[in-house]
Amino acid sequence: MNILVTGGAGYIGSHTCVALLEAGHTVMVADNLCNSQAETLERVKQITGREITFYQIDVTDEAATNTVFASQSIDGVIHFAGLKAVGESVAKPLVYYYNNLVSTMVLAKACQKYGVKRFVFSSSATVYGENQVPFVESMPLLPSTNPYGESKAISERMLTDIAKANPDWSVALLRYFNPVGAHASGLIGEVPTGIPNNIMPYITQVAKGKLDKLRVFGNDYPTVDGTGVRDYIHVLDLAEGHVTALDKLTKGVHVYNLGTGHGISVLQLVKAFEEANDLHLPYEITARRPGDIAECYADASKAKRDWGWTAKRDLVDMCRDAWRFESVSKEPSP
Ligand code: NAD
Ligand code: UFG
Repeated sequence: MNILVTGGAGYIGSHTCVALLEAGHTVMVADNLCNSQAETLERVKQITGREITFYQIDVTDEAATNTVFASQSIDGVIHFAGLKAVGESVAKPLVYYYNNLVSTMVLAKACQKYGVKRFVFSSSATVYGENQVPFVESMPLLPSTNPYGESKAISERMLTDIAKANPDWSVALLRYFNPVGAHASGLIGEVPTGIPNNIMPYITQVAKGKLDKLRVFGNDYPTVDGTGVRDYIHVLDLAEGHVTALDKLTKGVHVYNLGTGHGISVLQLVKAFEEANDLHLPYEITARRPGDIAECYADASKAKRDWGWTAKRDLVDMCRDAWRFESVSKEPSP
């Protein structure tokens, strides 16, 4: 299939480009590089030995987006392009609502105009809010504490309504849990700007000596050891989930969790990282981070049952690959 990947130069998008190319698909990327580098796409080509057509455009720009659809025969869209920093979304709600909602609307409109009927959307486990774990796709969504999460829930609702009005569309709403790790080549991985918000890049930067120590946000949650529990999933497993979604998707709107189904605490993650990479990671316990929930992990059975998809890589792979990217690779330059 000819797949348009928005946000394809980013962290999850670039790994998905690798998985798509390796599965034999043709890939076009639309990315404005607001949180990524063009060099990453060169590395995707290096890994796969395949070409990518790259459009440096903003997908909130309707005219520019239509130009891509007019010049290519597109079988499906995977829409990763979005802003994702939760804290920043609280400070700049309009920027987040505009980018994350208008991009989805512009792409859906272009799909309608050019007859593209497969749409895969990057949603997030954040839409479950404070539901009871494990999170199941059928649960009612609870209001998020931040505009980022709301932008995902609203995009899901918009795409559901659009698909209902276009019964020949096939839409996948994929709710990611916590993607970590990197491609085993060490060529592509997560490249946060500034001090990382997310735990794995923070850990790798502490291990590298760029940051002094990890701050563990709270040890008084009602969890196995008091620290926050998340469902960490290797980014390549997540990427492969998108290839499976494209292959298996049928008409209508389909919601799937992409997680492992296993909850891991912050201290368990620290220990796994130390053991996998044979190093010591300094940390201190600090106050809870506002907005964090105690536990977030998937019921991952639906994707397995319907699609035969499960995450194959374990926590050791995630820790080893994340550290390889930080320790041996040269980060792409702008
Ligand atoms: P990322 O920032 O690495 O990638 C996003 C890409 O989209 C970047 O390359 C950026 O330049 C591009 N982009 C943003 N707005 C754009 C626009 N208007 N036009 C064109 N390009 C634009 O983020 P990621 O971690 O790869 O996340 C990909 C998607 O998955 C996002 O929608 C994110 O909200 C969602 N998601 C991420 C996580 C996570 O923990 N990483 C979890 C759940 C969901
Ligand atoms: N944590 C620390 N110290 C840090 C960073 C994080 O202790 O320096 C803890 C958090 O309190 C939490 C866990 O590590 O318990 C994971 O935190 P992350 O910031 O890595 O990830 P979140 O679960 O908060 O959020 C991520 C993405 C969201 C997405 C969500 C989906 O950032 O965009 O996963 O599950 F919506």
